[in-house]
Amino acid sequence: MDLTRLLSLLFVFCCFSATTATNGTRGKTRGFFGVLEPDKSGQVAVDPATSHTLKSGLTTVFLPIIYIIVFVVGLPANGMALWVFLYRTKKKHPSSIYMANLALADLLFVIWIPLKIAYHLNGNNWTYGEPLCKVLVGFFYGNMYCSVLFIACLSVQRYWVVAHPLSQQRKNNKVAIGVCVAIWVFILLTSTPLFLYDHTAKLKDPNITTCHDVNIIHDPLDPYSSIWLPFYYFILMALVVFLVPCLVIIVAYIFLLRALGNMEESTASKNRLKVVLLIVTVLVTFLVCFIPSNIMLVVHYSLLKDGYRDNGYSFYISTLCLASLNSCLDPFIYYFVSEDFRNQVKNTFLCRSNRAVERMRVSFSSMKYSKKSKSYVSESGNTQTSSC
Ligand SMILES: *[C@@H]1O[C@H](CO)[C@@H](O)[C@H](O)[C@H]1NC(C)=O
Ligand SMILES: *[C@@H]1O[C@H](CO)[C@@H](O)[C@H](O)[C@H]1NC(C)=O
Ligand SMILES: *[C@@H]1O[C@H](CO)[C@@H](O)[C@H](O)[C@H]1NC(C)=O
Repeated sequence: MDLTRLLSLLFVFCCFSATTATNGTRGKTRGFFGVLEPDKSGQVAVDPATSHTLKSGLTTVFLPIIYIIVFVVGLPANGMALWVFLYRTKKKHPSSIYMANLALADLLFVIWIPLKIAYHLNGNNWTYGEPLCKVLVGFFYGNMYCSVLFIACLSVQRYWVVAHPLSQQRKNNKVAIGVCVAIWVFILLTSTPLFLYDHTAKLKDPNITTCHDVNIIHDPLDPYSSIWLPFYYFILMALVVFLVPCLVIIVAYIFLLRALGNMEESTASKNRLKVVLLIVTVLVTFLVCFIPSNIMLVVHYSLLKDGYRDNGYSFYISTLCLASLNSCLDPFIYYFVSEDFRNQVKNTFLCRSNRAVERMRVSFSSMKYSKKSKSYVSESGNTQTSSC
């Protein structure tokens, strides 16, 4: 119970700090941000603070390091998870269906990250053209909103399993597949606005082309006409695809903990630890990835729309980067929910060294005993796999 109260408190705190931050960053200066030069060169002038952020170590060293971590951890972990849920899970549960889709959404984003790493290491210079930039942006936000929705489904399903342990497996699987298809269609449709406007901007100083980092404002006296589409888009998505699932997740975990509290001590205690660890993982994912980025998106575009300089620009860029960490945190969710995934991870990491030793011993003993009895070798071969 304490955990859920903490979660709601933190959420209220985040909303509160966001509103005060909005008030605080509304400087008196109306410094423009990414204004198209009138000389038809197609180049964009940015204010000194933005220019400084784009040249700084934050964007050229820190962000690529985060993305490299996301790629190195996220690609194998989600790849293994997808493989486990597709081919190594004997009894398919709704939870493994949701987690397979979550892993797929993460993989679809993670495979584009090398481009992002190269972009930042290259001094934030995007040399791959507007279409690839759109793809990167589309998969980034697609993954973010997909992840929120699949985590919400998984949370509701976790509650359902505890509250209705005797409900029909086959019917539940059909519902889960239907929900997943609906989510993919929804994400596909809601990503289209991101493909309708240009994300690359040719800057004058520094002499680079940015991807999604600078919004072009065509008329400095009327920034709204250039910004309204992303402004309404991110507000709507923050309300519908972030806030609503967030509330659903909070309610689901409150009910889940209550249901576990009502169960008998002996049956509940084993489940309870795993449920608490799952909730902590989801909480961390939201605190690090989804809450800061969604709040800063709304703040950033609200400021831009009115022509205010965003003094928290480097903070805004960093929260978007942190959002990509969800691809590394999701494997922890799989770990606390799926026994198959847990066994696979233990097999891969904990037993590898043991197995190497075991293999050596087996080959040694087979050399030693092969003359005496052939069955001994095969027997020890079996124990080698089952012991892990
Ligand atoms: C917001 O700013 C106004 C004027 O700058 C000030 O009067 C008000 O107290 C501020 N509100 C908050 C919540 O800080
Ligand atoms: C910036 O790069 C363009 C080529 O993309 C080049 O034509 C231009 O001269 C460069 N400007 C400066 C100031 O280096
Ligand atoms: C960015 O890339 C463009 C095109 O490749 C190049 O002309 C420009 O000089 C580069 N800018 C920097 C700062 O390296």
